[in-house]
Amino acid sequence: MTHYPETSAFFRKLRWEYPRITHGKGSWVFDDAGTAYLDACGGAFVSNLGHGVAEIADAMAAQAKKLAYVSGMTLTHTAVEEFAAELAKLAPGDLDKVYPLSSGSDAVEAALKLARQYWAELGQPSKQKLVALTPSYHGNTLLALSASAREHYKTLYKGWLVDVERAPAYDADALALAIQRVGSENIAAIIIEPVGGSSSGALVPPTGYLRRVRAMCDKHKILFIADEILCGAGRTGTWSALEPDEVVPDIQVLGKGIAGGFAPLAAVIAPTRIVDVFAQGSGALVHAQTFSHHAVSCAAGTATLRYLAKHKLVERCAQMGTKLHESLKTLRALPHVGAIRGRGLLAGIELVDDAATGAPFPRAQHVAETLTRVALDKGLIVWPNIGHTNGTDGDLVMLAPPFIVTDDELDQIVQRLGNAIATTVKQLSVRT
Ligand SMILES: Cc1ncc(COP(=O)(O)O)c(C=O)c1O
Repeated sequence: MTHYPETSAFFRKLRWEYPRITHGKGSWVFDDAGTAYLDACGGAFVSNLGHGVAEIADAMAAQAKKLAYVSGMTLTHTAVEEFAAELAKLAPGDLDKVYPLSSGSDAVEAALKLARQYWAELGQPSKQKLVALTPSYHGNTLLALSASAREHYKTLYKGWLVDVERAPAYDADALALAIQRVGSENIAAIIIEPVGGSSSGALVPPTGYLRRVRAMCDKHKILFIADEILCGAGRTGTWSALEPDEVVPDIQVLGKGIAGGFAPLAAVIAPTRIVDVFAQGSGALVHAQTFSHHAVSCAAGTATLRYLAKHKLVERCAQMGTKLHESLKTLRALPHVGAIRGRGLLAGIELVDDAATGAPFPRAQHVAETLTRVALDKGLIVWPNIGHTNGTDGDLVMLAPPFIVTDDELDQIVQRLGNAIATTVKQLSVRT
Protein backbone atom coordinates (compact mmCIF):
# COMPACT_ATOMS: atom_id res chain seq x y z
CA MET A 1 0.00 0.00 0.00
CA THR A 2 1.07 3.57 -0.55
CA HIS A 3 -0.45 7.02 -0.32
CA TYR A 4 0.30 10.67 -1.07
CA PRO A 5 2.96 12.05 -0.52
CA GLU A 6 5.03 8.88 -0.05
CA THR A 7 6.11 8.75 -3.72
CA SER A 8 6.59 11.33 -6.49
CA ALA A 9 3.35 10.30 -8.18
CA PHE A 10 0.55 12.89 -8.13
CA PHE A 11 -2.20 10.40 -7.29
CA ARG A 12 -5.79 10.83 -8.39
CA LYS A 13 -6.89 10.74 -4.75
CA LEU A 14 -4.70 12.40 -2.19
CA ARG A 15 -6.32 10.78 0.83
CA TRP A 16 -6.49 7.16 -0.36
CA GLU A 17 -4.43 4.14 0.60
CA TYR A 18 -3.49 2.57 -2.77
CA PRO A 19 -2.61 -1.11 -3.20
CA ARG A 20 0.49 -1.17 -5.45
CA ILE A 21 -0.40 -3.59 -8.25
CA THR A 22 2.49 -5.52 -9.76
CA HIS A 23 0.74 -7.75 -12.31
CA GLY A 24 -2.53 -9.20 -13.50
CA LYS A 25 -3.83 -12.44 -14.97
CA GLY A 26 -7.35 -13.08 -16.25
CA SER A 27 -9.92 -11.51 -13.91
CA TRP A 28 -7.34 -10.88 -11.16
CA VAL A 29 -4.68 -8.32 -10.26
CA PHE A 30 -2.03 -8.80 -7.56
CA ASP A 31 -0.28 -6.31 -5.31
CA ASP A 32 3.29 -6.18 -3.99
CA ALA A 33 2.18 -7.85 -0.74
CA GLY A 34 0.81 -10.81 -2.71
CA THR A 35 -2.87 -9.93 -2.17
CA ALA A 36 -5.17 -10.96 -5.03
CA TYR A 37 -8.00 -8.65 -6.11
CA LEU A 38 -10.90 -9.77 -8.28
CA ASP A 39 -11.25 -7.02 -10.90
CA ALA A 40 -15.03 -6.85 -11.21
CA CYS A 41 -15.09 -3.62 -13.24
CA GLY A 42 -12.14 -4.02 -15.62
CA GLY A 43 -10.55 -0.94 -14.04
CA ALA A 44 -12.82 1.70 -15.55
CA PHE A 45 -14.79 -0.67 -17.90
CA VAL A 46 -11.63 -1.24 -19.94
CA SER A 47 -10.02 -4.67 -19.41
CA ASN A 48 -12.57 -6.60 -21.47
CA LEU A 49 -10.12 -9.41 -22.34
CA GLY A 50 -8.83 -9.74 -18.79
CA HIS A 51 -5.28 -9.02 -17.69
CA GLY A 52 -1.96 -10.35 -18.97
CA VAL A 53 -2.92 -11.45 -22.50
CA ALA A 54 0.45 -12.21 -24.11
CA GLU A 55 -0.94 -12.16 -27.68
CA ILE A 56 -1.83 -8.47 -27.42
CA ALA A 57 1.48 -7.56 -25.76
CA ASP A 58 3.36 -9.44 -28.52
CA ALA A 59 1.45 -7.62 -31.28
CA MET A 60 2.28 -4.28 -29.66
CA ALA A 61 5.96 -5.16 -29.24
CA ALA A 62 6.20 -6.29 -32.87
CA GLN A 63 4.66 -3.00 -34.04
CA ALA A 64 6.86 -0.89 -31.73
CA LYS A 65 9.97 -2.62 -33.08
CA LYS A 66 8.92 -1.85 -36.68
CA LEU A 67 7.40 1.60 -36.18
CA ALA A 68 6.07 3.17 -32.99
CA TYR A 69 4.97 6.57 -34.23
CA VAL A 70 4.80 8.98 -37.11
CA SER A 71 2.54 12.01 -37.28
CA GLY A 72 -0.83 11.59 -38.97
CA MET A 73 -0.34 15.07 -40.41
CA THR A 74 1.73 13.88 -43.40
CA LEU A 75 2.26 10.10 -43.07
CA THR A 76 0.22 6.95 -42.70
CA HIS A 77 1.00 3.28 -41.94
CA THR A 78 -0.59 -0.13 -42.22
CA ALA A 79 -1.24 -0.31 -38.44
CA VAL A 80 -3.92 2.40 -38.65
CA GLU A 81 -5.36 1.07 -41.90
CA GLU A 82 -5.67 -2.47 -40.51
CA PHE A 83 -7.28 -1.24 -37.31
CA ALA A 84 -9.73 0.95 -39.26
CA ALA A 85 -10.64 -1.96 -41.55
CA GLU A 86 -11.28 -4.32 -38.60
CA LEU A 87 -13.35 -1.75 -36.73
CA ALA A 88 -15.33 -0.73 -39.83
CA LYS A 89 -16.40 -4.40 -40.27
CA LEU A 90 -18.04 -4.25 -36.84
CA ALA A 91 -19.50 -0.74 -37.03
CA PRO A 92 -23.27 -0.30 -37.43
CA GLY A 93 -24.85 0.38 -40.86
CA ASP A 94 -22.86 2.55 -43.24
CA LEU A 95 -20.28 3.76 -40.67
CA ASP A 96 -16.96 2.99 -42.30
CA LYS A 97 -14.33 5.66 -41.64
CA VAL A 98 -12.34 5.45 -38.40
CA TYR A 99 -10.41 8.31 -36.74
CA PRO A 100 -8.35 6.86 -33.83
CA LEU A 101 -7.57 8.96 -30.76
CA SER A 102 -6.23 8.28 -27.28
CA SER A 103 -9.15 8.71 -24.87
CA GLY A 104 -12.91 8.84 -24.75
CA SER A 105 -12.88 12.55 -23.96
CA ASP A 106 -10.66 13.19 -27.01
CA ALA A 107 -13.04 11.22 -29.20
CA VAL A 108 -16.18 12.96 -27.90
CA GLU A 109 -14.56 16.38 -28.45
CA ALA A 110 -13.66 15.36 -32.00
CA ALA A 111 -17.13 13.93 -32.72
CA LEU A 112 -18.89 17.08 -31.49
CA LYS A 113 -16.56 19.30 -33.52
CA LEU A 114 -17.09 17.04 -36.52
CA ALA A 115 -20.87 17.56 -36.23
CA ARG A 116 -20.53 21.33 -35.94
CA GLN A 117 -18.10 21.57 -38.88
CA TYR A 118 -20.25 19.25 -41.02
CA TRP A 119 -23.15 21.72 -40.97
CA ALA A 120 -20.80 24.66 -41.54
CA GLU A 121 -19.36 22.86 -44.59
CA LEU A 122 -22.93 22.42 -45.86
CA GLY A 123 -23.60 26.15 -45.53
CA GLN A 124 -25.68 25.87 -42.35
CA PRO A 125 -23.42 27.43 -39.69
CA SER A 126 -26.36 28.22 -37.38
CA LYS A 127 -26.61 24.47 -36.65
CA GLN A 128 -24.13 24.43 -33.77
CA LYS A 129 -26.10 23.73 -30.58
CA LEU A 130 -25.82 20.37 -28.86
CA VAL A 131 -28.52 18.38 -27.06
CA ALA A 132 -27.59 15.84 -24.37
CA LEU A 133 -29.31 13.85 -21.63
CA THR A 134 -29.47 14.04 -17.84
CA PRO A 135 -27.95 11.95 -16.33
CA SER A 136 -25.11 11.29 -18.75
CA TYR A 137 -21.34 11.37 -18.92
CA HIS A 138 -19.27 12.10 -22.01
CA GLY A 139 -15.83 12.99 -20.69
CA ASN A 140 -13.82 15.50 -18.75
CA THR A 141 -12.32 17.90 -21.31
CA LEU A 142 -14.36 21.08 -21.44
CA LEU A 143 -16.64 20.44 -24.44
CA ALA A 144 -17.22 16.81 -23.41
CA LEU A 145 -17.83 18.00 -19.84
CA SER A 146 -20.29 20.62 -21.12
CA ALA A 147 -22.25 17.79 -22.73
CA SER A 148 -22.13 15.76 -19.50
CA ALA A 149 -24.62 16.04 -16.65
CA ARG A 150 -22.07 15.64 -13.86
CA GLU A 151 -22.68 18.64 -11.65
CA HIS A 152 -19.94 17.92 -9.12
CA TYR A 153 -17.36 17.81 -11.94
CA LYS A 154 -18.69 21.00 -13.52
CA THR A 155 -19.27 23.43 -10.65
CA LEU A 156 -15.74 24.85 -10.52
CA TYR A 157 -15.49 25.26 -14.30
CA LYS A 158 -18.98 26.67 -15.00
CA GLY A 159 -17.59 29.87 -16.53
CA TRP A 160 -15.54 27.85 -19.03
CA LEU A 161 -18.26 25.50 -20.24
CA VAL A 162 -20.60 25.94 -23.21
CA ASP A 163 -24.36 25.86 -22.96
CA VAL A 164 -25.83 22.47 -23.91
CA GLU A 165 -29.59 21.85 -24.06
CA ARG A 166 -30.70 18.97 -21.85
CA ALA A 167 -33.51 16.42 -21.75
CA PRO A 168 -34.15 13.74 -19.11
CA ALA A 169 -32.54 10.43 -20.05
CA TYR A 170 -34.60 8.13 -22.25
CA ASP A 171 -37.77 10.26 -22.36
CA ALA A 172 -38.52 10.74 -26.07
CA ASP A 173 -41.30 13.31 -25.54
CA ALA A 174 -38.96 15.45 -23.42
CA LEU A 175 -36.30 15.20 -26.14
CA ALA A 176 -38.83 16.36 -28.75
CA LEU A 177 -39.60 19.38 -26.54
CA ALA A 178 -35.87 20.14 -26.14
CA ILE A 179 -35.51 20.16 -29.94
CA GLN A 180 -38.50 22.49 -30.18
CA ARG A 181 -37.06 24.86 -27.56
CA VAL A 182 -33.75 25.25 -29.36
CA GLY A 183 -35.08 25.01 -32.92
CA SER A 184 -33.76 22.29 -35.20
CA GLU A 185 -32.18 24.93 -37.45
CA ASN A 186 -29.79 25.62 -34.54
CA ILE A 187 -28.95 22.03 -33.56
CA ALA A 188 -25.85 20.22 -34.85
CA ALA A 189 -26.16 16.96 -32.92
CA ILE A 190 -27.77 14.95 -30.17
CA ILE A 191 -25.32 12.88 -28.14
CA ILE A 192 -26.67 9.82 -26.34
CA GLU A 193 -25.28 6.80 -24.49
CA PRO A 194 -27.37 3.94 -26.01
CA VAL A 195 -27.09 2.19 -22.63
CA GLY A 196 -26.27 4.39 -19.66
CA GLY A 197 -22.85 4.19 -18.07
CA SER A 198 -21.74 5.06 -14.58
CA SER A 199 -23.76 8.29 -14.35
CA SER A 200 -27.07 6.41 -14.45
CA GLY A 201 -25.96 3.02 -13.14
CA ALA A 202 -26.35 1.21 -16.48
CA LEU A 203 -29.85 2.49 -17.21
CA VAL A 204 -31.27 0.70 -20.26
CA PRO A 205 -33.64 2.81 -22.43
CA PRO A 206 -37.19 1.56 -22.94
CA THR A 207 -37.83 -0.32 -26.19
CA GLY A 208 -38.58 2.12 -28.96
CA TYR A 209 -36.71 5.08 -27.45
CA LEU A 210 -33.62 4.86 -29.66
CA ARG A 211 -35.76 4.41 -32.78
CA ARG A 212 -37.70 7.55 -31.90
CA VAL A 213 -34.42 9.45 -31.48
CA ARG A 214 -33.33 8.21 -34.90
CA ALA A 215 -36.66 9.33 -36.43
CA MET A 216 -36.42 12.76 -34.78
CA CYS A 217 -32.85 13.21 -36.04
CA ASP A 218 -33.92 12.24 -39.58
CA LYS A 219 -36.93 14.56 -39.54
CA HIS A 220 -35.04 17.56 -38.17
CA LYS A 221 -31.68 16.95 -39.90
CA ILE A 222 -29.74 16.56 -36.67
CA LEU A 223 -26.74 14.24 -36.36
CA PHE A 224 -27.20 11.32 -33.95
CA ILE A 225 -23.95 10.70 -32.03
CA ALA A 226 -23.88 7.40 -30.16
CA ASP A 227 -21.42 7.61 -27.27
CA GLU A 228 -20.55 3.94 -26.89
CA ILE A 229 -17.30 4.54 -25.05
CA LEU A 230 -18.53 2.57 -22.06
CA CYS A 231 -21.42 0.46 -23.39
CA GLY A 232 -19.88 -0.42 -26.77
CA ALA A 233 -17.17 -2.88 -27.83
CA GLY A 234 -19.29 -5.83 -26.73
CA ARG A 235 -19.83 -4.78 -23.12
CA THR A 236 -23.64 -5.17 -23.22
CA GLY A 237 -23.49 -8.50 -25.09
CA THR A 238 -23.59 -7.12 -28.64
CA TRP A 239 -20.75 -5.25 -30.36
CA SER A 240 -22.81 -2.03 -30.46
CA ALA A 241 -25.33 -1.36 -27.70
CA LEU A 242 -27.66 -0.11 -30.48
CA GLU A 243 -27.88 -3.55 -32.11
CA PRO A 244 -30.95 -4.86 -30.23
CA ASP A 245 -32.86 -1.76 -31.41
CA GLU A 246 -31.47 -2.02 -34.96
CA VAL A 247 -30.64 1.68 -34.93
CA VAL A 248 -27.75 3.18 -36.91
CA PRO A 249 -26.25 6.46 -35.61
CA ASP A 250 -24.56 9.07 -37.80
CA ILE A 251 -21.43 9.00 -35.67
CA GLN A 252 -20.28 6.33 -33.20
CA VAL A 253 -17.68 6.97 -30.53
CA LEU A 254 -15.79 4.06 -28.95
CA GLY A 255 -13.01 3.90 -26.35
CA LYS A 256 -12.20 2.07 -23.12
CA GLY A 257 -12.40 -1.65 -24.11
CA ILE A 258 -11.43 -1.37 -27.79
CA ALA A 259 -7.80 -2.05 -26.97
CA GLY A 260 -8.59 -3.95 -23.76
CA GLY A 261 -6.53 -1.48 -21.71
CA PHE A 262 -3.30 -2.55 -23.40
CA ALA A 263 -3.04 0.91 -24.98
CA PRO A 264 -4.99 4.14 -24.57
CA LEU A 265 -7.23 4.04 -27.65
CA ALA A 266 -10.53 5.55 -28.74
CA ALA A 267 -12.20 6.09 -32.10
CA VAL A 268 -14.68 8.28 -33.91
CA ILE A 269 -16.48 6.35 -36.65
CA ALA A 270 -18.43 8.17 -39.36
CA PRO A 271 -19.89 7.15 -42.72
CA THR A 272 -18.34 8.10 -46.06
CA ARG A 273 -21.45 10.25 -46.77
CA ILE A 274 -20.37 12.56 -43.90
CA VAL A 275 -16.61 12.39 -44.44
CA ASP A 276 -17.10 13.12 -48.17
CA VAL A 277 -18.61 16.50 -47.25
CA PHE A 278 -15.25 17.40 -45.68
CA ALA A 279 -13.29 15.85 -48.56
CA GLN A 280 -15.23 17.93 -51.08
CA GLY A 281 -15.28 21.00 -48.83
CA SER A 282 -12.46 22.34 -46.69
CA GLY A 283 -10.46 19.10 -46.95
CA ALA A 284 -10.00 18.26 -43.25
CA LEU A 285 -11.60 18.13 -39.83
CA VAL A 286 -10.41 21.18 -37.87
CA HIS A 287 -9.01 19.14 -35.00
CA ALA A 288 -5.58 17.69 -34.36
CA GLN A 289 -3.86 15.75 -31.63
CA THR A 290 -0.26 14.52 -31.62
CA PHE A 291 -1.17 10.96 -30.68
CA SER A 292 -4.08 10.37 -33.08
CA HIS A 293 -3.55 7.41 -35.48
CA HIS A 294 -0.82 6.04 -33.16
CA ALA A 295 0.79 2.90 -34.63
CA VAL A 296 1.29 0.89 -31.41
CA SER A 297 -2.16 1.82 -30.06
CA CYS A 298 -3.74 0.79 -33.37
CA ALA A 299 -1.82 -2.52 -33.29
CA ALA A 300 -3.19 -3.12 -29.79
CA GLY A 301 -6.69 -2.33 -31.09
CA THR A 302 -6.40 -4.72 -34.06
CA ALA A 303 -5.04 -7.51 -31.87
CA THR A 304 -7.88 -6.95 -29.37
CA LEU A 305 -10.59 -7.07 -32.04
CA ARG A 306 -9.10 -10.26 -33.52
CA TYR A 307 -8.82 -11.85 -30.07
CA LEU A 308 -12.47 -11.04 -29.30
CA ALA A 309 -13.54 -12.63 -32.60
CA LYS A 310 -11.25 -15.67 -32.29
CA HIS A 311 -12.51 -16.54 -28.80
CA LYS A 312 -16.13 -15.44 -29.46
CA LEU A 313 -15.92 -13.20 -26.43
CA VAL A 314 -18.81 -10.87 -27.26
CA GLU A 315 -21.11 -13.92 -27.41
CA ARG A 316 -19.57 -15.06 -24.14
CA CYS A 317 -20.25 -11.61 -22.63
CA ALA A 318 -23.96 -12.01 -23.50
CA GLN A 319 -24.09 -15.51 -21.92
CA MET A 320 -22.19 -14.61 -18.77
CA GLY A 321 -24.18 -11.36 -18.54
CA THR A 322 -27.43 -13.31 -18.26
CA LYS A 323 -25.87 -15.32 -15.41
CA LEU A 324 -24.59 -12.19 -13.70
CA HIS A 325 -27.98 -10.47 -13.72
CA GLU A 326 -29.71 -13.64 -12.49
CA SER A 327 -27.25 -13.96 -9.65
CA LEU A 328 -27.45 -10.24 -8.72
CA LYS A 329 -31.14 -10.73 -7.90
CA THR A 330 -30.01 -12.36 -4.64
CA LEU A 331 -28.68 -8.97 -3.49
CA ARG A 332 -32.21 -7.55 -3.52
CA ALA A 333 -32.81 -9.26 -0.16
CA LEU A 334 -30.19 -7.03 1.47
CA PRO A 335 -31.28 -3.85 3.23
CA HIS A 336 -30.49 -0.62 1.32
CA VAL A 337 -30.11 -2.28 -2.08
CA GLY A 338 -32.19 -0.28 -4.59
CA ALA A 339 -32.48 -0.77 -8.34
CA ILE A 340 -30.18 -3.22 -10.12
CA ARG A 341 -29.82 -2.35 -13.79
CA GLY A 342 -27.85 -3.18 -16.88
CA ARG A 343 -27.35 -5.55 -19.79
CA GLY A 344 -24.64 -8.06 -20.65
CA LEU A 345 -21.63 -7.86 -18.35
CA LEU A 346 -22.57 -4.36 -17.27
CA ALA A 347 -24.48 -3.81 -14.05
CA GLY A 348 -25.28 -0.92 -11.72
CA ILE A 349 -26.35 -1.58 -8.13
CA GLU A 350 -27.97 1.32 -6.32
CA LEU A 351 -27.64 1.85 -2.56
CA VAL A 352 -30.58 3.72 -1.08
CA ASP A 353 -31.55 5.05 2.33
CA ASP A 354 -35.11 3.80 1.94
CA ALA A 355 -35.67 0.82 -0.35
CA ALA A 356 -39.45 1.36 -0.35
CA THR A 357 -39.33 4.92 -1.71
CA GLY A 358 -35.90 4.76 -3.37
CA ALA A 359 -34.82 7.85 -1.38
CA PRO A 360 -31.03 8.27 -1.57
CA PHE A 361 -28.60 8.49 1.33
CA PRO A 362 -27.49 12.03 2.15
CA ARG A 363 -24.21 12.75 0.31
CA ALA A 364 -22.42 13.43 3.60
CA GLN A 365 -22.58 9.69 4.38
CA HIS A 366 -20.27 8.83 1.42
CA VAL A 367 -21.89 5.42 0.97
CA ALA A 368 -20.50 4.59 -2.50
CA GLU A 369 -16.96 5.54 -1.46
CA THR A 370 -17.20 3.53 1.78
CA LEU A 371 -18.54 0.50 -0.07
CA THR A 372 -15.73 0.71 -2.63
CA ARG A 373 -13.10 0.77 0.16
CA VAL A 374 -14.76 -2.06 2.07
CA ALA A 375 -14.97 -4.15 -1.12
CA LEU A 376 -11.32 -3.43 -1.97
CA ASP A 377 -10.27 -4.54 1.49
CA LYS A 378 -12.22 -7.77 0.83
CA GLY A 379 -10.32 -8.27 -2.46
CA LEU A 380 -13.02 -6.99 -4.83
CA ILE A 381 -12.63 -4.02 -7.20
CA VAL A 382 -15.90 -2.22 -8.02
CA TRP A 383 -16.58 1.16 -9.62
CA PRO A 384 -18.39 3.75 -7.48
CA ASN A 385 -20.57 6.56 -8.69
CA ILE A 386 -22.43 9.35 -6.95
CA GLY A 387 -25.00 12.02 -7.73
CA HIS A 388 -27.30 10.18 -10.16
CA THR A 389 -30.49 10.99 -8.19
CA ASN A 390 -30.32 14.78 -8.19
CA GLY A 391 -26.78 15.77 -9.17
CA THR A 392 -25.57 15.50 -5.57
CA ASP A 393 -27.15 12.52 -3.81
CA GLY A 394 -27.37 8.98 -5.14
CA ASP A 395 -24.90 6.15 -4.50
CA LEU A 396 -24.22 3.22 -6.75
CA VAL A 397 -21.52 0.77 -7.68
CA MET A 398 -20.92 -0.69 -11.10
CA LEU A 399 -19.74 -4.11 -12.21
CA ALA A 400 -18.08 -4.79 -15.58
CA PRO A 401 -16.02 -7.98 -15.30
CA PRO A 402 -13.85 -9.15 -18.20
CA PHE A 403 -15.61 -11.22 -20.87
CA ILE A 404 -13.45 -14.22 -19.89
CA VAL A 405 -14.87 -14.24 -16.33
CA THR A 406 -15.67 -17.78 -15.14
CA ASP A 407 -18.83 -19.06 -13.41
CA ASP A 408 -16.90 -19.40 -10.16
CA GLU A 409 -15.54 -15.84 -10.44
CA LEU A 410 -19.04 -14.47 -11.08
CA ASP A 411 -20.26 -16.25 -7.93
CA GLN A 412 -17.34 -14.78 -6.00
CA ILE A 413 -18.08 -11.27 -7.29
CA VAL A 414 -21.71 -11.39 -6.16
CA GLN A 415 -20.81 -13.02 -2.83
CA ARG A 416 -18.02 -10.56 -2.03
CA LEU A 417 -20.21 -7.61 -3.07
CA GLY A 418 -23.05 -8.85 -0.83
CA ASN A 419 -20.62 -9.10 2.12
CA ALA A 420 -19.20 -5.66 1.38
CA ILE A 421 -22.71 -4.13 1.26
CA ALA A 422 -23.60 -5.77 4.60
CA THR A 423 -20.37 -4.49 6.21
CA THR A 424 -20.91 -0.99 4.80
CA VAL A 425 -24.48 -0.82 6.10
CA LYS A 426 -23.25 -1.93 9.55
CA GLN A 427 -20.56 0.80 9.53
CA LEU A 428 -23.18 3.40 8.58
CA SER A 429 -25.49 2.45 11.42
CA VAL A 430 -22.57 2.72 13.87
CA ARG A 431 -21.75 6.20 12.51
CA THR A 432 -25.33 7.57 12.60
C1 LIG B 1 -19.95 7.19 -21.88
C2 LIG B 1 -18.60 7.81 -21.71
N1 LIG B 1 -18.17 8.74 -22.58
C3 LIG B 1 -16.96 9.32 -22.49
C4 LIG B 1 -16.10 8.99 -21.47
C5 LIG B 1 -14.75 9.66 -21.38
O1 LIG B 1 -13.75 8.75 -21.63
P1 LIG B 1 -12.26 8.96 -21.06
O2 LIG B 1 -12.33 8.85 -19.58
O3 LIG B 1 -11.47 7.87 -21.72
O4 LIG B 1 -11.82 10.31 -21.50
C6 LIG B 1 -16.49 8.04 -20.53
C7 LIG B 1 -15.59 7.68 -19.41
O5 LIG B 1 -15.98 7.15 -18.42
C8 LIG B 1 -17.78 7.44 -20.65
O6 LIG B 1 -18.20 6.52 -19.75
